[in-house]
Amino acid sequence: MIAEHRDHAAALDPAAPLVEVRDAVVSYRVKGKGRFIAVQGVDLDVRAGEIVGIVGESGCGKSSLARALVGINRLSGGSIRFLGREVTPLPIRRRPGHLVPLQMVFQDPYASLNPRRQIMRQLEEVWNAASRARGDLLSAERRTAAIDDVLERVGVDPELRGRYPHALSGGQRQRVAIAKALLTDPKVIVADEPISALDASSQKHVSRLLRALVDDLQIGMVIISHDLAVVAAIADRTAVMRAGRFVEQGPTERVWTAPENPYTLQLLSAVPELVGRQG
Ligand SMILES: Nc1ncnc2c1ncn2[C@@H]1O[C@H](COP(=O)(O)OP(=O)(O)O)[C@@H](O)[C@H]1O
Ligand SMILES: [Mg+2]
Repeated sequence: MIAEHRDHAAALDPAAPLVEVRDAVVSYRVKGKGRFIAVQGVDLDVRAGEIVGIVGESGCGKSSLARALVGINRLSGGSIRFLGREVTPLPIRRRPGHLVPLQMVFQDPYASLNPRRQIMRQLEEVWNAASRARGDLLSAERRTAAIDDVLERVGVDPELRGRYPHALSGGQRQRVAIAKALLTDPKVIVADEPISALDASSQKHVSRLLRALVDDLQIGMVIISHDLAVVAAIADRTAVMRAGRFVEQGPTERVWTAPENPYTLQLLSAVPELVGRQG
């Protein structure tokens, strides 16, 4: 099914966005209160080789949007297209084949890692599924090579492949979660607060890793963070979210140096080092 999406992608304009979000609405049914609208009419494009950063205070709808982007949350309105095809969750827990190259990285690596299995086993499983979907023959040798390759790429010593997730540091665990996403040969990765739970030094290294992956593999990436400094440092474009809407969206440099929306200015003034940088 991955081959099918490739053919489909090849038929598209190469400059076309990988992800196109139009007027997306996400709402939740709240007991006794009707529906709560968490995302109200968002437009967003994600292109190959770029990082789009989404910033905003806790509760503004970032994770709701992220889950809709990858087809975990169903939209109540608007549309999200990935490689020209609608992103629609299946009623069952299985992920549609054409969404395999659209991956998510969570704040907590345990959201995608099983604590009870060696990381090697988990990576093997992903490689097997991706190869099967491509119609490739399964080969234990090629699999080991692919896994070592991806571990090296994320900066984890392949010698650690036999470990269980708890025997890794927080930074290593997040790198393994990223490796898992990479084994599917992704086109777009949506990372929701990917470094928020890490110590300061791992934060710096993992955000550099994410930037390098986008540059080297020419994938598209959405990075969501409540920490403006993170997004300012690595995103090409930035969207500022407030109460379910984007109040402003543009090249990161412009958004930080000449914000058009008073709310952006207010957010920025709460970050001393950014204000310093502007002056
Ligand atoms: N499953 C849910 N049911 C009801 N309300 C929800 C649910 N998930 C999130 N919300 C509400 O939607 C709003 C946005 O949440 P979220 O997308 O998690 O924001 P953020 O990631 O920016 O902190 C919050 O008010 C939150 O309480
Ligand atoms: Mg969130």
